[in-house]
Amino acid sequence: MSEGFTVAIDGPAAAGKGTVSKAVAAHFGFAHLDTGLLYRAVGAKVLTGVDAIDAALALMPEDLEDDSLRTPEVAQAASKAAVIPQVRAALLDFQRSFAARAGGAVLDGRDIGTVICPEAHVKLFVTASAEVRAQRRYAELAGRGISDSFEQVLADVKARDTRDMERAEAPLRPADDATIIDTSRLTIEQAVAAAVAAIAAVQAS
Ligand code: DC
Repeated sequence: MSEGFTVAIDGPAAAGKGTVSKAVAAHFGFAHLDTGLLYRAVGAKVLTGVDAIDAALALMPEDLEDDSLRTPEVAQAASKAAVIPQVRAALLDFQRSFAARAGGAVLDGRDIGTVICPEAHVKLFVTASAEVRAQRRYAELAGRGISDSFEQVLADVKARDTRDMERAEAPLRPADDATIIDTSRLTIEQAVAAAVAAIAAVQAS
């Protein structure tokens, strides 16, 4: 992990990590990996009857480009598959190689700062209240024609939080040296500005 500049962005579902990560990567010209897509691609295969560990071992880069990975069902299946240590182990090398690429990399997920890239140059933990996150996810799903109720979306968000935080292997938590960005009361622009400032401060030091 010595070659590039690595930014680790972790946080719970629908906190704005994806948006912040993409914007930060574009701002600094870094490559971006949404590591949730790896688990979602595994979850999608599990829903078709494939064993989770087999799916993780056989994962191909093109599996990450499937539009159907963005459904609530796949998100829950991903969160369940992510509990399995052998699934996480199978996805480790790909993530570490990505992090080490020359030119800089932003990885977002749940365990980037704690497990995948403990030596990342910058660690951010992007979070927001469960209600705010559910509201955002509800609006996003409605915009895509998925008509789950707000109560259902909130229950899904909370179920994923619990599973992601309470699992034994690589649970969701901020790294000790992470900068916490609570986006509950921030606009997207303010959240991105906070992340850019945190990274620029490290680059300048
Ligand atoms: O970020 P996301 O919502 O697309 O992630 C889907 C699930 O994948 C999430 O509920 C937990 C799991 N995940 C993980 O365990 N570790 C990561 N680095 C990224 C995602």
